[in-house]
Amino acid sequence: MITTVVYSESGGTYKTTMTANIAVALERMGKNTLVIDLDPQEGNLTSLFDVGQYRNDPDADNLVKHILDMPDGDFHDLIESTEESVDIIPSHDMLGDFTSNLEQKISYETGMQNISREEYPRFKLLYELLWKKQQLNEEYDAVLIDPNARAEDLLYNAIFAMRTLVAPVKPAGKGNLSLEGLEELVGNMEDQLDIEIGLSCVVPSGVGQTNAHQQYREQFEKTDAFATPVTIGDRESLMDAMWEARGSAFKVVEERWKTFEQDGAMVSEPGHRRVRDREIDTLRKLYELARFIAVDTFGADVDPVLELEFQDEETRRIDLADKDPVEVSYT
Ligand SMILES: Nc1ncnc2c1ncn2[C@@H]1O[C@H](COP(=O)(O)OP(=O)(O)OP(=O)(O)O)[C@@H](O)[C@H]1O
Ligand SMILES: [Mg+2]
Repeated sequence: MITTVVYSESGGTYKTTMTANIAVALERMGKNTLVIDLDPQEGNLTSLFDVGQYRNDPDADNLVKHILDMPDGDFHDLIESTEESVDIIPSHDMLGDFTSNLEQKISYETGMQNISREEYPRFKLLYELLWKKQQLNEEYDAVLIDPNARAEDLLYNAIFAMRTLVAPVKPAGKGNLSLEGLEELVGNMEDQLDIEIGLSCVVPSGVGQTNAHQQYREQFEKTDAFATPVTIGDRESLMDAMWEARGSAFKVVEERWKTFEQDGAMVSEPGHRRVRDREIDTLRKLYELARFIAVDTFGADVDPVLELEFQDEETRRIDLADKDPVEVSYT
């Protein structure tokens, strides 16, 4: 079972887009994949995949109600599917009030059961729900969480349930600092939660061609402190188009989504994007990243062949098992 939280202390480090891309890559490798969106803010996985139509409805059943063991329906009714076959538990506004709802539950239950607040397993609730009550391990090969880094209770629940982190970092003073803080943070979480947390890998992303960026990249690739299987370049146009295509970077490139001006208005449509080698190379790296997580971190078997079927163009086949997988074969 592949279980991971895509984690970064700082905002805007490409967590959400990366979660979507890893999930779709795993699905394409033959892994039945579920993503859980724990971020109640706009621009989350739920909006990326265009799901969660009841996320603002306070009466709708949602994940928080299930985590707090007060469900309003069947757990499986929370799960939606996306066009790219990845399943998703969408976000809901109630995630924003998780801690206050949790405190109420703790007050009630500790009062009834005569246990102290400190004894209450506040970080184990998601774990209990996913693996003990719902036994999702029997249904899925992979579960990925996009958390809200600022919400400690939800984040700790996510980490307690998943145990493994993938950490995207951005080349900036800030990116650097957040990484230095990462080990300390993992240590603190391990002490607090009394579990071992694994860092699968660090993924430098948004790395441009400037000297400063390239030095940053070398610094990451050289270190023995953690694995850095791939570096993702500055791909703003490709990743931004994901929000229009409502799906992964694989979808953007295959369906050739592009945003352009038409009669004075900006429109986004499939069928217009040029097939660029550097974007195909980025897809290969995302696939390689997913393979690293699946195989090197979790010992899973995956299909190492990435087939890209472009709209109105030739199909390309990239075999990661090839000695030089950068070489793409045409069919
Ligand atoms: N490799 C990249 N290069 C340049 N831009 C990127 C790259 N990956 C993603 N982006 C863009 O950066 C923006 C932020 O990405 P994203 O929403 O994934 O970050 P986040 O860490 O989830 O942010 P938040 O902390 O707000 O949740 C998006 O507009 C996305 O399209
Ligand atoms: Mg996000």
